[in-house]
Amino acid sequence: MPLLRSFFIALSHNRALRSFSERSRVGVRLSSRFVAGMEIDDALRVAEAVNQQGIAVTLDSLGESVTTEAEAQAAAMVYHKLLDAVAARKLNANISVKLTQMGLNLSPALAENFAENLARHAREKDSFVRIDMEDSSLTQVTLDIVQRIHAKPELRGVIGVVIQAYLYRSQADIEQLLADGIRVRLCKGAYQEPAAVAYPRKADVDANFVRLSSLLLASPVYHGLATHDDAMIAAARSFASQHGIDPGRFEFQMLFGVRRDLQRRLVREGYNVRVYVPFGSDWYPYFMRRLAERPANVLFLAKNFFRS
Ligand code: FDA
Repeated sequence: MPLLRSFFIALSHNRALRSFSERSRVGVRLSSRFVAGMEIDDALRVAEAVNQQGIAVTLDSLGESVTTEAEAQAAAMVYHKLLDAVAARKLNANISVKLTQMGLNLSPALAENFAENLARHAREKDSFVRIDMEDSSLTQVTLDIVQRIHAKPELRGVIGVVIQAYLYRSQADIEQLLADGIRVRLCKGAYQEPAAVAYPRKADVDANFVRLSSLLLASPVYHGLATHDDAMIAAARSFASQHGIDPGRFEFQMLFGVRRDLQRRLVREGYNVRVYVPFGSDWYPYFMRRLAERPANVLFLAKNFFRS
């Protein structure tokens, strides 16, 4: 399994396959398992349907590692439109943003400026900006940017970040974020990382996820636990009930198209659930990371493809 994971993560960086797939009809059809559609309106329609099931949404306009300032500007504009549209339609949805899509690889100051403007707009609309976490070469710069934006008194509580349980450094990062009162989304981590920075064994990643979840649950800030793993969810529920933590004080987060049964069940049982809804034509790297997480999805996709 780790080999297949590495294979799909390597494919996620393949430019030729990416450009072929994103343009092909078959590719678009396959991606629809995990991607809400190509346009803003597709994402808003899905968000509305998800909200109707009592589930909150975070919207991700797909794209990462832009190579020009104009591309970063265009990507930021999509998020500004989303914030307006979500407020106009009174959806229960916030936004998830990757700093490399805001130009981080061109200039950290540029990305920080776009992210700060989004946070200001989110504040006006009573919304929230989650900064996704990318590979470990970007962890420190991402945390620094989020901390600086959050330190502006008017933007306190409007921006949060993601921490990956596979990194050795994550407990220290969480302790710092909690000291600053910053909202965290905890996930296991989706990139290929060397053993020098990340636990290579799943059992260690899982154990760290449970440990870090407890730190988040015990804090007074509202955090998100992003996982489809029954064992992680059971551990969080049991910690919360043992410590008298009300289910309204945190949320579980899952990806669009993954474990819909579990999403609905948690809502029925009184938990807050948020679904990450990605959309847009730059779906290829996101899609490959989803296959890396669960190579069995390839068979699932193939069966459904030939059936329909
Ligand atoms: P794990 O991979 O151990 O899977 C446990 C079980 O969940 C599987 O046995 C299967 O049943 C189910 N499952 C998991 N993935 C599935 C899939 N793709 N399809 C079908 N079933 C699946 N990562 C990151 O590095 N930076 C980020 O910013 C984010 N953001 C983010 C937001 C949200 C809302 C979620 C849910 C996840 C992320 N991630 C992420 C991805 C995360 O790091 C991780 O790769 C995936 O969530 C898979 O890990 P699980 O915790 O689900 O468990």
